[in-house]
Amino acid sequence: MENADDRKTGQRTATGNEMSASFLAAKERSDKTLAALEANPGKFRMLTGDRPTGRLHLGHYFGSIRERVAMQDLGVDTNIIIADYQVITDRDTTEHIQDNVLNMVLDYMAAGIDPKKTMIFTHSAVPAENQLMLPFLSLVTEAELLRNPTVKAEMEASGHSLTGLLLTYPVHQACDILFCRANVVPIGKDNLPHIEITRAIARRFNDRYAKKNRVFREPSAILSDAPEIPGLDGRKMSKSYGNAIKLSATAEETAKLIKKSPTDSERRITFDPVNRPQVSALLTTAGLVTGRGPAEIAAEIGDAGAGALKKYVTESVNDFLAPFRARREELAQDMDSIRDVLRDGNRQANEIADQTLDEVRAAMGMKY
Ligand code: TRP
Repeated sequence: MENADDRKTGQRTATGNEMSASFLAAKERSDKTLAALEANPGKFRMLTGDRPTGRLHLGHYFGSIRERVAMQDLGVDTNIIIADYQVITDRDTTEHIQDNVLNMVLDYMAAGIDPKKTMIFTHSAVPAENQLMLPFLSLVTEAELLRNPTVKAEMEASGHSLTGLLLTYPVHQACDILFCRANVVPIGKDNLPHIEITRAIARRFNDRYAKKNRVFREPSAILSDAPEIPGLDGRKMSKSYGNAIKLSATAEETAKLIKKSPTDSERRITFDPVNRPQVSALLTTAGLVTGRGPAEIAAEIGDAGAGALKKYVTESVNDFLAPFRARREELAQDMDSIRDVLRDGNRQANEIADQTLDEVRAAMGMKY
C-alpha cells in the first residue's frame, strides 16, 4: 500500500536504465494483456494486494481499487491479499495490525469489492502459501535479491538495516501470486521488479522441477493508466504528509483537511501543475471525483480565488464519498460479519494453497 520513494532509485543510473527498458516491455505486455482480458475476462485470474499499514485514501481508490472492482464486475477471477507479513519487512511492531486489516476489508467492501466474487485473505493465515518460499528461495541468487531497486529504496526510507524479510519479500510476493496461479497482477510501477522476479521463479521452477508438467505460469503486471494523484498540497500523496483524503474520513474531517491545504498568492485559478502544484493538486482532485477536466474547473472558478476552489473541492469530494461512507458505516455495524469475510477468504486460500503445494511436492519428488 505504501510506495517506495522512487526518487532514490532514480539516482542509480545503471539500474535506472535497466528498469526503463524492462518498464517499456512490461507496459507493452500490460496493454496487450488488458485488451485480452477485456475481450475474454473469464480466462483471467487476478491477484493483487496491499500492506495493512493504515486506511485507504483517494489515491488508492483512483490508482487501483476502482480497477479491481471493474475487473471483478467484468467476471475476472479476482483475489486480494492483505499482506500482513509485508508490514514487518521494515517495521518493529504489529501494533494496530488487527484494526488495520479489518478496516481494510471495510474499505474494500465499501468501495465495491464483493467478497462473494473476490477472495480476500491474509498472508499469516495461509501456511502452504508461505511454505512455497523455501523452494522459491532456492531459485534466486543473493545478487538478484540485493539489486532489487525497490528493496533498496525501502530500506533507505525505513532508516533500518536490511532485514532478511525485507531482502526476501519480493520472493514472498511471488508466493502470493503463484500459489493461486494468477496471470494478471495490477501493481504500481514500484512493484515491477517483484513481478519480474515472480516470472523468473515460475520459469525456473518449471525448468528445474517440472519440465513435462509445468506447475506455474508467468503472470503479467497490469500497470494502471491512472495518473498519479498528488496529495492536497501538491507533494506526493502520503499518509505521513497528512495530505491524503482517507475514504473513511468524515465529511467534516475532509472539509478541514482541504481548508488547511496550502495554495499560492495568485488569485486567479489556473491549472498549471508545474508552476502551481498546490492549486493544481486541488483541481486534479476535483477533476477525478467529478469526472471533469481540471482546466475546465479552473476556468469556471477563475477570479473567485482559492476560497471558491476549496469550497468546490470539498463539496465534490464529499458528494463523491457520501455513498461510500454510508456503506462503510452500515458494514461497520457488524464487525463479526467482516471477520467472517476474512475467515472465509482464508479458508478458500488455504484450499488453493494446499493443492498448489501438493503439486510442488509432487514435481519435486517430495511426496512421502
Ligand atoms: N507489495 C505490494 C505493495 O506494497 C503489496 C502486495 C503484497 C502485492 N503482495 C502482493 C501486490 C502480490 C501484488 C501482488 O503495494
